[in-house]
Amino acid sequence: MSAVAYVNGRICSPQDATISVFDHGFLYGEGVYEVLRTYGGELFLVDRHFRRLRASASMITLDVGMADSALEGIVVETMAAQRAAAGAAAQGHEILARVLVTRGIGEMNYDPSKSPHPSLVVIVKPLVPLPASTYERGVAVALVSVVRNHPASVDPRIKSNNLLNNVLAMQEALRRGPYFEAILRNFRGELSECSQSNLFLVTDGTVRTPALDAGLLAGITREFVEEVAVDTGIPTVDAVLRDDDLFGADEAFLTSTSKEIVPIVRVDDRVIGGGRPGPITLRLLDAYRRTARAVAGRR
Ligand code: PDD
Repeated sequence: MSAVAYVNGRICSPQDATISVFDHGFLYGEGVYEVLRTYGGELFLVDRHFRRLRASASMITLDVGMADSALEGIVVETMAAQRAAAGAAAQGHEILARVLVTRGIGEMNYDPSKSPHPSLVVIVKPLVPLPASTYERGVAVALVSVVRNHPASVDPRIKSNNLLNNVLAMQEALRRGPYFEAILRNFRGELSECSQSNLFLVTDGTVRTPALDAGLLAGITREFVEEVAVDTGIPTVDAVLRDDDLFGADEAFLTSTSKEIVPIVRVDDRVIGGGRPGPITLRLLDAYRRTARAVAGRR
């Protein structure tokens, strides 16, 4: 894996990319993160990712500790180091950059004032695209029993390093079969999102996604897909969605930075729509990719 990491001021190879066991990111999962990608080698929607990073950090009373320009400079520097380390293999490859900010090292207690220096880690690795067949055929997902965090608990709006809830949801899906993703319901039994992606349904030509107050991560891709849908003339609404909406949908898809728009054609043993990626999903995927390239190239 030709990854390179920046760890608190040092650019390192994967084997040297270590952090103290006293870092609260390790001890308590006390930190936040973002995953960015490039299109045509240019970072995509950096401003939105950094805005969400700051919002996540403020929800756990954490100060990112530097301006966006400095943070972007570190990501770009780490990307250059990764490109140099990967050599010819890096040619034409897009990258994923995971930016993590944790509480840093401090006393073994929960008082933030005792850990005043956040840790910053940036991991850059090649983005291995999903096979074309995934987009052409669609995927099967599991509707799991693990419930998305209650917003008054670890609020799902926080893109937190504390990912055990998501891990448990995906573990349940994988125990049941080779499922691509896990769909979680919220504490009210409504659909919320997937373990690492947002969920969309298409019914009677309208694209619907669970509203933010269902308790879910405000995905950057989710937001961009809604904008692309509007530009493409496809009606889009945030709604309360339940199991029946899912099983009765004409089309379904999931979204995330690295996966873009992946058609869902089966949920557990029930076929969605015709069991093939639907026309609106495919139109959106095409428009999404074209717009993303154009937007990233304009920076
Ligand atoms: N995951 N919901 C959850 C729970 C997520 O973890 C993610 C992203 C998303 C989609 O967000 P975005 O469109 O901003 O990537 C929704 C990242 C990619 C990850 O954990 O790797």
